[in-house]
Amino acid sequence: MKIGVVGLGYIGSVTAGVLAEAGNSVIGIEIDAKRLAGFKSGEPPIYEPGLKELIEKNHSRLEFSSDYSKLADADIVFLAVQTPTVNERIDLSYIFDAAEKANRQCKKAVLVIKSTVIPGTARELSKKISLPIVSNPEFTREGTAVEDTRKPDRVVIGAKDSNAADLVGKIWSFTGAPLLKTTNENAELIKYASNSFLATKISFINEIANLCESIPGADVEIVAKGMGYDKRIAPYFLKAGIGYGGSCFPKDTSAIASFAKELQSPLSIVESAIKVNSDRIERIVDILKTEIGKELKGKRIAVLGLAFKDDTDDIRGSQPIRLIERLLKESAAVNAYDPRVKIKIDGITRFENLEGCIKESDAVIVATEWGEFSNLKIMDKFVLDAKRILNPANFNNFRAIGLSWER
Ligand code: UGA
Repeated sequence: MKIGVVGLGYIGSVTAGVLAEAGNSVIGIEIDAKRLAGFKSGEPPIYEPGLKELIEKNHSRLEFSSDYSKLADADIVFLAVQTPTVNERIDLSYIFDAAEKANRQCKKAVLVIKSTVIPGTARELSKKISLPIVSNPEFTREGTAVEDTRKPDRVVIGAKDSNAADLVGKIWSFTGAPLLKTTNENAELIKYASNSFLATKISFINEIANLCESIPGADVEIVAKGMGYDKRIAPYFLKAGIGYGGSCFPKDTSAIASFAKELQSPLSIVESAIKVNSDRIERIVDILKTEIGKELKGKRIAVLGLAFKDDTDDIRGSQPIRLIERLLKESAAVNAYDPRVKIKIDGITRFENLEGCIKESDAVIVATEWGEFSNLKIMDKFVLDAKRILNPANFNNFRAIGLSWER
C-alpha cells in the first residue's frame, strides 16, 4: 500500500520504518526543516535503538518530505504529530491542522490518528474533514519502539467506517497481534486507560517502597518480585524508583484526569498516582538531607542520568531534571553525567565521563537506570540509589529507594 506518515517523532519515524520494512511504500511528512534534513541524510535526529538501521535498510521504499501534496495517492495516512498538555488540558491544534492539510491533498486515503487524543477527538474531527477517520493508538515504549511496533501485544482499531477499519487492520496483519475493532471513542480511551493504569502501578509500588524504608528488614525489590509471580498482578511496571517521566505518562495522566473531572466523573486513583509521582522528588531530597545534612548549599551533588529512562536521549518529563531543579533551589552545586544526553543545562556542571563526575562530588544520586552505572563501587561518599540498580555491598555509606534504613 501507499502510506503517508505525518510527524516524524519517535512514533511517526518508527511507524514509517516498520511499515516500509513490511513492503509498503511510505512517505514521511515533517515540517521541521532540521528534523527532516536528518531523516533525508540517513542520520535520524532522535536516538532510538534500531531506527537508523531500519531506515537505512528500507530506504528504497521510504521517502521524506515537507510537502503534503505528496500524500495525494496515499491509501492510508497516519497522523503522529504531538498532542501536548497545556495547563492540564490537551492541545489538539497540531492534529487538527495536520488532518485538515492531509484532507485537502488526499484523493482517497483513510486518515489514522496515531497520536494520543482525548476521547471524542475523532468524532470532532469528522465534522471538519471528509476522509474516513480511524483511531489506532500506539503502545510502544521509547527505547524499544522498533521491536514494540513490529510485535505489539495488540492492535486497537476504532472506526465508524468498517471498510476503513478493515484496511488499517490489513496493514498491521503482518504483526500477528490480536486485533480489537471497536468505536473511535473506545480506542481513544483504551490508550489513556492503559497508560494511566501503568502509571498507577508505578506509583503504587513507589508508595510501598516508602513503607519498606520504615520497616527493618524490608526491601521493595523482593516485595515486588513476590507480587509479580501472581499472574493477575504480573511483574511488569513494578520497579520502584524516582517516579515515572517521559513524554507520555505525565502528560496523559494529567490530560485524562482533567478531562474526567470536566465530565464530573473524576479519576481519583489516577489523581493520587499523579500526586505520589510528584512527591518522589521531595522524598529523594529528604533522604539526601537526612544523610548528608539539612544544608545542601554549596554541597556538590552528582546526579547520574538525565534521560527520563535508559536507552534514550529524551529528557521530556524527566524526573532527574526535576530533581536537579529542586537541588538548585537548595543552592546545591549540581554535577551531572549521562551517556546520551549532551544538552546544556543552566546552573549545573555536566561531565563527559562518569568517574570525573563522581570524583568532583560530595554525594551521588543514581537517577536513570543506565547499565553502565550498575557496577559502581564507591566507598568514600554517600550514594543514593534512586533506581534500584546498585549492589549495596559496593558502598560504605548507602541508601536505596524502598530498602529499609535498618537492615
Ligand atoms: C509509555 C508506555 O509504556 C507505552 O506503552 C506507551 O505507548 C507510551 O508511553 C506512549 O504513550 O507513547 P514510554 O514513555 O516510552 O512508554 O516509557 P516507559 O517504559 O513506559 O517508562 C515510563 C516511565 O516510567 C520512565 O520514567 C520509567 O523509568 C518509569 N518506570 C517504568 C518506572 O519507574 N518503573 C517501572 O516499573 C516502569
